[in-house]
Amino acid sequence: MSDVQLGMPQLPAPDYPADVRARLEADAKEVIARYPDSRSALLPLLHLVQAEDGHVTRTGLRFCAEVLELTVAEVTAVSTFYSMYRREPSGDYQVGVCTNTLCAVLGGDAIFDALRRHLGVEGGGTTDDGKVTLEHIECNAACDFAPVVMVNWEFFDNQTVESAKALVDDLRAGRTARPTRGAPLCTYKETARILAGFPDPRPGAVEASGAAGPATLAGLRLAKGGTPAAHVGPPRGAPAPDGPTHGPGPAEHTEEGEE
Ligand code: FES
Repeated sequence: MSDVQLGMPQLPAPDYPADVRARLEADAKEVIARYPDSRSALLPLLHLVQAEDGHVTRTGLRFCAEVLELTVAEVTAVSTFYSMYRREPSGDYQVGVCTNTLCAVLGGDAIFDALRRHLGVEGGGTTDDGKVTLEHIECNAACDFAPVVMVNWEFFDNQTVESAKALVDDLRAGRTARPTRGAPLCTYKETARILAGFPDPRPGAVEASGAAGPATLAGLRLAKGGTPAAHVGPPRGAPAPDGPTHGPGPAEHTEEGEE
């Protein structure tokens, strides 16, 4: 059941324990100092309390309201507007299947349906072991690599039903699952802290490239006087690769060369 209740008034939310409150206040002070107007820090502070609790709890809403001198109603209104703030407890890994048009027709719908049955949860649901939350996601500007699955906002490109099932099996078993581009995976709470604006502690994460694909870069290449490529994407129907990478290797993402 949702932690944010609309309708009947509720008792005031409990505060964080004193030690947690002190730690979060120190973090919040650092975030607020980045903005000329403190209320502008609300979005990162919602990520901060999400990093603490795994979702935006009533206690988290109260905390944000108090440190920013806003009402709980104002904070709740913002937190319920954006889909990146969760209202319910979630898994360590948010597995988002892109079901926007291009990904959907190239297999995203089939992947989502297969994962729904494989995991035994509906969209927004979390597996009993607390590891995986399955979600529909909207286009993440990775259409070159459709169909795309994102785990805690890291890319798993060119997925198939089988590679996606293997991916969630690895996540649930604690085996390494390496994104096809960008930084290595971390947990949902760790991701939320990074989104709050704190340093990314993952080795190599800042240097890791999430380079655009050949199809995206084709227009730029033409504008610079290049010639159209006969084929700008990986061949369809290629077998799923072996090993911990659930999709093509980084080299395939830059086969046309980065501009
Ligand atoms: S439609 Fe899926 S990433 Fe764009």
